Amino acid sequence: MNVQSTASRYSPDFDMPVRGDPITAERYISKEWMDLETKNLWPKVWHLGAVIAEFEEPGDIVRHNFGKESVIMVKQEDGSIKAFYNACPHRGNRLILGEQASVAKITCAYHSWTYDLDGTLTKVQDPDDFEGGSPCGKVHLSELRCDTWGPFVFWCMDDDVAPLHEWLAPFPERLKGYGVDNWVRVLKLSCDADFNWKIIRDNFNESYHLPTIHPELSTFINDGLPDTLFEMYPSGHNAMWMKGHQATTRVDYHTTEVPAPLDDVARAWEIDPAEYNGHTGDLRAAIIEAKRRLGPSRGYTNYENMSDQQLVDYFHCTLFPNLTLTMSPEQLQVLRTEPHPTDPEKCIFQHWCLYPPVEGMKEVVTPIGNEPLEHDAVVRHSVYGDGVSLGFVADQDLSIGTSQQQGLNSRGFKGCILPGQEKRIQRFHELLNDYVAGVEPAGKA
Ligand code: FES
Ligand SMILES: [Fe+2]
Repeated sequence: MNVQSTASRYSPDFDMPVRGDPITAERYISKEWMDLETKNLWPKVWHLGAVIAEFEEPGDIVRHNFGKESVIMVKQEDGSIKAFYNACPHRGNRLILGEQASVAKITCAYHSWTYDLDGTLTKVQDPDDFEGGSPCGKVHLSELRCDTWGPFVFWCMDDDVAPLHEWLAPFPERLKGYGVDNWVRVLKLSCDADFNWKIIRDNFNESYHLPTIHPELSTFINDGLPDTLFEMYPSGHNAMWMKGHQATTRVDYHTTEVPAPLDDVARAWEIDPAEYNGHTGDLRAAIIEAKRRLGPSRGYTNYENMSDQQLVDYFHCTLFPNLTLTMSPEQLQVLRTEPHPTDPEKCIFQHWCLYPPVEGMKEVVTPIGNEPLEHDAVVRHSVYGDGVSLGFVADQDLSIGTSQQQGLNSRGFKGCILPGQEKRIQRFHELLNDYVAGVEPAGKA
């Protein structure tokens, strides 16, 4: 395996060395690995817990179950959001049992201990029955760090992890032009799936699967290797820029007629696709020009601060260890896997889609069809394989999960063999190895 060579498609400014650690099946199937991740990985990273729009009034609560853990985010009287472990300090009962709640106080269902929104215990039964006097005012819910970026709320279990904005670097800066702060989460989809959480992480750390798994994208997204730019950052996160509004260079679409659906997109921007027959690659530049000219009058005021690249291309941001933000000018997709509470061969897959609040727009085209441009227009949880869509492209990615998990269990599988373009997978696993081993992650800034 040679993953040491740096292919030119890695931006020289954003490349990271790798060691070539073997990537064997154990990490996908063993309970020991899972336990090490629970102990040494998950407490050390920020977790996306909610969108800010879910918190309207003080007392609004969003619960985030993660593995065996459960965290509640609570809107405070001053408008800020605090995060607490969802466990009663009395004898450990879970406090909030639903996905969301709206309360004046947080009251435990076991012995009615009652907490203010800031986590302070305010009422207990038989307060004089405690050595040292009533615990009220002295006992607090166990608090975690909580912070926001863009439209999102994050929490973190460890006080030594870098502050959220530092931890997210370089994305707050790189994504600024999209102006996502007020984007609306229209889809909140999730499912239980029969594979380890890292199977889909690996999938999002490469574009090698596109021609096989997503052949329909080839007439709209250029997945040709020389045209795709990969970036790896010291933070452990990475990214991939893929040219959009341009067919793949893997197939000769560039000297033919403009293929569908690119022809329709051209017409939508008042461009006659026929003018680009024989040189279809040039359409991308024409669409940039048309979007700049026509976008603001169509309500796309957010185009103004976007670079040309952002106006037409796809920016896949893969944050270590388990969060992907896929950016296009009109859609932000959050794609994520989280571990199952007990089984290393299962996970929870989540897919959120956010859209800019374009004035006058009532509906948006989502990966599951047209939906109202409203907060949480579609919220659903399913079991993968039951025929409920997680989004057209996501369904295709998920379709390999179970069979890959099965193959990884074979005695015949000896470890991954990666081409240069899958270096991001290699880097991911080496960081993971360091976290799990409890040593300083290599190259981590
Ligand atoms: S466990 Fe919560 S009040 Fe007893
Ligand atoms: Fe994919």
